[in-house]
Amino acid sequence: MNLQTKYMNLDLKNPIIAGASPLTTSVESILRLEDAGAAAVVMHSLFEEQINHESLALDHFLYANNESYAEALDFLPETGSFNNIDAQQHIDELSRIKKSVDIPVIASINGVSSGGWIKYVKRFEEAGADAIELNITYIPTDLNMKPDAVEQLYVDVVKDVCSSCSLPVSVKMNPYFSAPANMAYQLVEAGASGLVLFDNPVRVDIDLENLSPIQRANLTYSSRLSETLRWNSILYNKLDASLCASTGVHEYEDVLKALMSGANAVQMASALLQDGEGHITRVLQDLERWMEEKEYSSVEQMIGSISLEHTSNRDAYERSSYMQALQSYKR
Ligand SMILES: Cc1cc2nc3c(=O)[nH]c(=O)nc-3n(C[C@H](O)[C@H](O)[C@H](O)COP(=O)(O)O)c2cc1C
Repeated sequence: MNLQTKYMNLDLKNPIIAGASPLTTSVESILRLEDAGAAAVVMHSLFEEQINHESLALDHFLYANNESYAEALDFLPETGSFNNIDAQQHIDELSRIKKSVDIPVIASINGVSSGGWIKYVKRFEEAGADAIELNITYIPTDLNMKPDAVEQLYVDVVKDVCSSCSLPVSVKMNPYFSAPANMAYQLVEAGASGLVLFDNPVRVDIDLENLSPIQRANLTYSSRLSETLRWNSILYNKLDASLCASTGVHEYEDVLKALMSGANAVQMASALLQDGEGHITRVLQDLERWMEEKEYSSVEQMIGSISLEHTSNRDAYERSSYMQALQSYKR
């Protein structure tokens, strides 16, 4: 049984990548993920806010339009209030990880401005990272900011990061653009070699005891797989980039569906946080068993086998499937 796949320039022994989470912060936990069978890991992110730099670009994006609204500022973390892990420590940990494991290590960087922090990408490369995953989570709150300005912000960051290193760069997207397919195309044109579909936003809530806003990291379930299936299947074979499914990949069935929809690989975070690193071993065993039963000999065979590649009018297909789903519902 051949479980190998290619994700960007990376030859993976199987399609399961451990996504960025607290499990990918240290050599010890990454060794456990490798033992369990992970084909690669994405290190937890280094945030732009954690990088001590002279640039005021981030402050501009976060605060420029909110200074006069005290209540709006309550929703924003002060840059100083971040757990200020020294960026150097992060690079040192990456270096230790690279010396300890054989699987590819993807460094993750999370930022929104085209500021001086981007120079850290080169440091990742020097520390041995095999690729970079870029997470640009920007919530535009300014009523005057037009969609094309938001898109341009993403494109500019991708261009800057890609020109700062010679590593392949993947972009962890969110599905909330008005035209995700075009956004994906723009990101690839800007230099991205891979798209991670999708990030899962933190959960916004209100603490009724303290009467304050809170944001929490959000664990997922298999039922959250839908958006990645939709967009993998729409984008499969349309872009000069690899696709990686993320959000809702928990069981072997999810891995199969993600591959068939067009993903070259998958990422798991919540499932591993919930069930431990050994979950990967179980999923891989189940995956092989299923493939044997159904007489598949390789993962490659399955990639994109149930995508929209051969659908001539994708908009019409999506629209009619949507209508049928609603009209055929029976109580
Ligand atoms: C506790 C926690 C921490 C996370 N940290 C990061 C991070 O540092 N960088 C990042 O890009 N994504 C981070 N994520 C998002 C995950 O990598 C992943 O995209 C998301 O959880 C959806 O995948 P899943 O359904 O497998 O959990 C984190 C998620 C959780 C739950």
